[in-house]
Amino acid sequence: MNKPVTNKNGSLLERAAEVYDFSAHFRTPAIPESDLPPVAAPRPVAAEPPRPAVAPMFAPAPTVRAAPPIPDREVAIDRALLAGNGLLVPGAAVGVLAEEFRLAKRQLLLTARRLTADPAKARTMLVCSPKPGDGKTYCAVNLAISLAAERDLRVLLVDADFAKPDVMNRLGVADGPGLLDALSDPSIDIERCVVGTDVPNLSLLPAGAGSTADTELIASDRTRALIEHLLAADPDRVVIFDSPPALAASPASVLALHVGQVMLVVRADRTSEGEIRDTVQRLEGCEHIQLLLNKVAFAPGGDRFGSYYGQEDEGQ
Ligand SMILES: Nc1ncnc2c1ncn2[C@@H]1O[C@H](COP(=O)(O)OP(=O)(O)OP(=O)(O)O)[C@@H](O)[C@H]1O
Ligand SMILES: [Mg+2]
Repeated sequence: MNKPVTNKNGSLLERAAEVYDFSAHFRTPAIPESDLPPVAAPRPVAAEPPRPAVAPMFAPAPTVRAAPPIPDREVAIDRALLAGNGLLVPGAAVGVLAEEFRLAKRQLLLTARRLTADPAKARTMLVCSPKPGDGKTYCAVNLAISLAAERDLRVLLVDADFAKPDVMNRLGVADGPGLLDALSDPSIDIERCVVGTDVPNLSLLPAGAGSTADTELIASDRTRALIEHLLAADPDRVVIFDSPPALAASPASVLALHVGQVMLVVRADRTSEGEIRDTVQRLEGCEHIQLLLNKVAFAPGGDRFGSYYGQEDEGQ
């Protein structure tokens, strides 16, 4: 049985590690909050301040920074839809949810910095969970929006849930050709499928047209080549994959082979330890798996997450 949360001031990652006693099971221990760099002050909403001369997050600073690829299609993200779905709204005042995802992203960025053996792979992350409805897309979108606010990187959010693609829909953006199309047709340049957005530093890659051979396509050597292509096109690019559920579909284990780290979304109120162990086993192709606790059922009134996590609908 899951333990009750006692460290209510910890980040979602820390509290996940507390609820699920997995410290020995995971190869990457959670980094204590005291080791984290200080959380930056909230950014002003209206004016974009000048970019400070900071070293880039992953690549050594070149004398002249390469310009990012220019997308063929640029879309506007529906802020009202984001707000309606309880997602982070870019440029809105910083609230509790934004702070939570700041902490989660810092943890991911610190892990990424440690992956010095493969700097390209360090820029790839998979957001996964055991079952449908655990909140993978919710967390992937929030993480992408939070990471896009960083000064020295650009985020590409890839919809890799081929059976149930949801990213474009969740952002109120029209679908289009994507990863599966580029996988199945070598004449398609995957960069041409990338969709720019009106959120600075955030672009999207749709799942593309599905087929019955999705798992075989994603398991092919071409997947590695396409990911390398996406990373090489922009040295400041971080790629986040929204995954299918690991226990319900096979592509998640294949995708885990290609990423530097996995953010494993768990529901404290319904994910069992057995399910997490099975999921971790399926994702063992990736050495760095971190738990993200989603939708914790706290006692009413007393907790700072009540407004976000206390209103969950039981039907999911
Ligand atoms: N922390 C949260 N707060 C509010 N709503 C949430 C939260 N987490 C998930 N949801 C909502 O729960 C529903 C299921 O979440 P989501 O679609 O992200 O799950 P999923 O794991 O991606 O599911 P699937 O495997 O079917 O793709 C969505 O309506 C989402 O907006
Ligand atoms: Mg989803």
